[in-house]
Amino acid sequence: MRRMFLFSLLAFFALTLLFMWLTGFSEFRFGYVILGILFLLSFLGVYDVLQKKHAIRRNFPVVGNFRYLFESISPEIQQYFIESNTSGRPFSRNLRALAYRRSKNVNDTHPFGTQRDIHLEDYIALRHSIYAKKPVEEDLRVLVGGPDCKQPYSASILNISAMSFGSLSSNAISALNRGALKGEFYHNTGEGGISPYHMEGGDLCWQIGTGYFGCRNETGGFDEVKFREKAILTKVKMIEIKLSQGAKPGHGGVLPGVKNTKEIAEIRGVKEGTTIVSPPSHTAFGNPKELVQFIQKLRELSDGKPIGFKLCIGRTEEFEDICKAMLEHSIYPDFITIDGAEGGTGAAPLEFSDSVGLPLEPALIFARLTLDKHRIKDRIRLIASGKALSAFSIVKNMALGADMCNSARAFMFSLGCIQALRCNTNSCPTGVATQDKHLKKGLVITDKAERVYNFHKNTVHAVKELLGASGYSHTSELSIRDLVRGDEMVEFANHFFPDSVINHLHHKS
Ligand SMILES: Cc1cc2nc3c(=O)[nH]c(=O)nc-3n(C[C@H](O)[C@H](O)[C@H](O)COP(=O)(O)O)c2cc1C
Repeated sequence: MRRMFLFSLLAFFALTLLFMWLTGFSEFRFGYVILGILFLLSFLGVYDVLQKKHAIRRNFPVVGNFRYLFESISPEIQQYFIESNTSGRPFSRNLRALAYRRSKNVNDTHPFGTQRDIHLEDYIALRHSIYAKKPVEEDLRVLVGGPDCKQPYSASILNISAMSFGSLSSNAISALNRGALKGEFYHNTGEGGISPYHMEGGDLCWQIGTGYFGCRNETGGFDEVKFREKAILTKVKMIEIKLSQGAKPGHGGVLPGVKNTKEIAEIRGVKEGTTIVSPPSHTAFGNPKELVQFIQKLRELSDGKPIGFKLCIGRTEEFEDICKAMLEHSIYPDFITIDGAEGGTGAAPLEFSDSVGLPLEPALIFARLTLDKHRIKDRIRLIASGKALSAFSIVKNMALGADMCNSARAFMFSLGCIQALRCNTNSCPTGVATQDKHLKKGLVITDKAERVYNFHKNTVHAVKELLGASGYSHTSELSIRDLVRGDEMVEFANHFFPDSVINHLHHKS
């Protein structure tokens, strides 16, 4: 440090002399300001040369710092100056704008025609009908709960996907829950458990992950007594066992230490400030038979509420084995949530987000046809999750076999998320995915709850319009045949299943 100080002093004197010689110092108005800047730059330059961590800064003192500066604001540069309307990822500017407009209840129409290249291979569209109908007035709902369920739940076709208090701020959770209350749809708690902010009156789907937060014993395993206490709460309408998540299948949930506040640590029963990585799989069960028995146990402990599980499909044969166990033990979940590998997360290793698991479309087709093949679909609702933002994405999922959709990031947009890609750093500028109390203050709960409500209402209305264009009144009338590129999907399905099953799907009731 001393050496550095001497060096900077030396550099400073050299620069000062040069500066005075060049400008005639006494006549220059901002001389002291410039001197100060020169001093700071010389200090920085010497520091750059002496530090050993960054080669670029050692080799190119002062100017080398611009590389790190630009790197740190590259998402903003990308978003504001480079990205086109259709190119942004994970969500394009057009899609984000759609979510914002629907949330603000303002004009959500689009001018001049599509900006997509509809001749590209990934173009999927609806085969509408000449005999289009007016959109139906009544709400689109689906009853969740098979014959063994004592408290079936009438769910909206669009709900808030799992996002914990921890990954999201308390203000964000409160706004989501209030929006869900007003719009009569459910709010999935995420694996972080039920917090006071989930208790604003909205219906809950309580998610139980491998960390068993909220129903966890001292050794980190499942605690029946704690489970029952929460499961029988009136607002808990459904319970979801999380097997895996599309953004990190086979990897436990991750709560970065910076986001693990005292309050969150207390709710989860963990140590404050530490990074919490949940185990990659459950300790309460280890094979398909034990999974279905666990479902039965939760059903009994919750007095018969709908019980389901969420997964991103990897090995299709393992899904098949679970279906066989259901049949063998006559225990069926009330719902299964299929999360696509394109799914979002608060924090995950890049390799898991980029390269593990089946995308939603093939996974959904596979799950649907497997349930059909075993003739157990009637008792199990299929929920699709993965970029369900536009009404078309919802309609497409239903056509591929889902009964309902969950959406996470679209609801984040309704809260004001700007896709800053900082969910894992605690510095989310919009106060959505942070525990920083100053940042979260920016998110006004009452205002954003209204936007959550609006987004849901306007998106479901847009679904009704698409249904009307197809001559339908409910999403349950859709099938794979309603999609352009449907034949290619049938080909994919044929790969796995005999024709009879596919015909069954085409005529699903
Ligand atoms: C900030 C954030 C937190 C999440 N937390 C959970 C979680 O606790 N449990 C879970 O199963 N999925 C979690 N997810 C995944 C979502 O529930 C959802 O499955 C996935 O993002 C796909 O939906 P989307 O494309 O609508 O975002 C999280 C996603 C985000 C963006």
